[in-house]
Amino acid sequence: MIRIAPSILSADFARLAEEIRSVEEGGADWIHVDVMDGHFVPNLTFGPPVVAAIRPVTKLPLDVHLMIADPDRYIPAFAKAGADLISVHVEACVHLHRTIHFIKEQGVKAGVVLNPHTPVEMIRHVIADVDLVLLMTVNPGFGGQAFIPAVVPKIREVARMANEQNKEVDIEVDGGINAETAPLCVEAGANVLVAGSAIYNEPDRAAAIRALREACAK
Ligand code: DX5
Ligand code: ZN
Repeated sequence: MIRIAPSILSADFARLAEEIRSVEEGGADWIHVDVMDGHFVPNLTFGPPVVAAIRPVTKLPLDVHLMIADPDRYIPAFAKAGADLISVHVEACVHLHRTIHFIKEQGVKAGVVLNPHTPVEMIRHVIADVDLVLLMTVNPGFGGQAFIPAVVPKIREVARMANEQNKEVDIEVDGGINAETAPLCVEAGANVLVAGSAIYNEPDRAAAIRALREACAK
């Protein structure tokens, strides 16, 4: 089953609650929250207070994507704010195994994220410990960028690696996902699709979500 996770990075922040409700009513499965620190990535977004503020607005799981240096410092605050899943970048974690278990100790699901250039091999020895692997299909930092097709074979590699270790893991893709690129990812083994501009740039959120699902069902 394919899950659609609209990224609120492309929402109208002045009307954030309404924007979240519009995708929940439109059939979204998760809400994707892009946290940027202006250091790991060249942009700034939200912190734990924003996660806490949106928590009562929706029943959907909050999928918190940390694009921050030294994420261990903030993991407890995001867990307390109501994150259901916290994903950290392999490139930002010196002691990745420790960080993954630190997330789980907070009672939250744990994900690992790979930038487009980072080899899948980096997660071989932690894939059994995580709930989700997120493959960036753009360089993180901004919404509305073009999908990088070279990432598609990495989706297959993650699926194969999980299978070899008899591990069920969600495979999420993030960046430039739309009705053209989503089917390529799903065909390769992705089951969670993050979409920012493809959903929030459309006035009819339900139609945008339906278009993504229908494109992948073909
Ligand atoms: C990029 C973020 C994405 C972004 C995706 O750094 O991680 O979640 O919002 O936006 P689109 O779907 O517009 O590429
Ligand atoms: Zn993201």
